[in-house]
Amino acid sequence: MKNILITGATSGIGRELALQLAEAGNKVGLMGRRTEMLESIQKEIGENAFIRTLDVTDLEKAETVYRDLIDEMGGMDMMILNAGVGVDKIMSPWKADKLTIEVNVLAFSHGLHFAFDFFRRQGHGHIVGMSSIASHLASYKAAVYTASKHFVSNYMTGFRQKAKRLPADITVTDIKPGFVKSEMTENVPRMFWVAETDKAVKQMIKGLDKKKNIVYITKRWMLVAWLARLIPQFVWDRL
Ligand SMILES: NC(=O)c1ccc[n+]([C@@H]2O[C@H](COP(=O)([O-])OP(=O)(O)OC[C@H]3O[C@@H](n4cnc5c(N)ncnc54)[C@H](OP(=O)(O)O)[C@@H]3O)[C@@H](O)[C@H]2O)c1
Repeated sequence: MKNILITGATSGIGRELALQLAEAGNKVGLMGRRTEMLESIQKEIGENAFIRTLDVTDLEKAETVYRDLIDEMGGMDMMILNAGVGVDKIMSPWKADKLTIEVNVLAFSHGLHFAFDFFRRQGHGHIVGMSSIASHLASYKAAVYTASKHFVSNYMTGFRQKAKRLPADITVTDIKPGFVKSEMTENVPRMFWVAETDKAVKQMIKGLDKKKNIVYITKRWMLVAWLARLIPQFVWDRL
């Protein structure tokens, strides 16, 4: 049994991770802004679910909440930094970009620092970051989102290198989904290779069990990552 903290556990991938990881016998510490959804997941899982309402952009509160949950659960073995936002077309372009940076970049890096520091002191631990295939691309339609996921993956690579230079056993897993059914993708037009949430999460957990550095969801999206490296930028710019 592991103690696993998950940010963004109220819906989509995070919620499914909570359910499947709890089903496998782990204790899960779940966070998100929507309290009623956290309560409903806790009801579904039972005594192995611990919940805290949290907006991850409140960095000071986040640190207190992480520590509270760890205390209540009796430790932490894995932290899954899953909370993320896509582009909200109702917002002004700058508001949407700012929010994406606050959640996907600032709060993510803050959470990663917290987990890394905790596991360094503890001597072991597993950090999981929810990036995206978007981390390999740039897009005029989602400039801030693709850029934020570039940051997420690149940052994790740096911390994986850091971990190798420490006398601590810290794994850093970068999860790169293509399209997965969730609230975020509900109204996204022209999606392809869309994975069902439960199938996607099953594959993620397999990757985590193997302590992989990078997990593509589903595996076929690895092709897109390869193509992104092979195709020159001027070709992408015309697409
Ligand atoms: N679905 C896909 O196709 C896909 C593909 C690649 C990567 N991803 C990544 O997967 C992760 C999960 O997304 P999803 O697809 O499962 O979408 P989702 O259903 O919209 O879930 C997003 C989660 O993030 C939480 N969140 C957002 N802003 C937050 C904030 N300020 N504070 C705390 N929690 C916050 C939400 O909780 P509250 O609203 O309750 O706060 C929710 O639980 C994201 O990082 C996303 O970028 C998704």
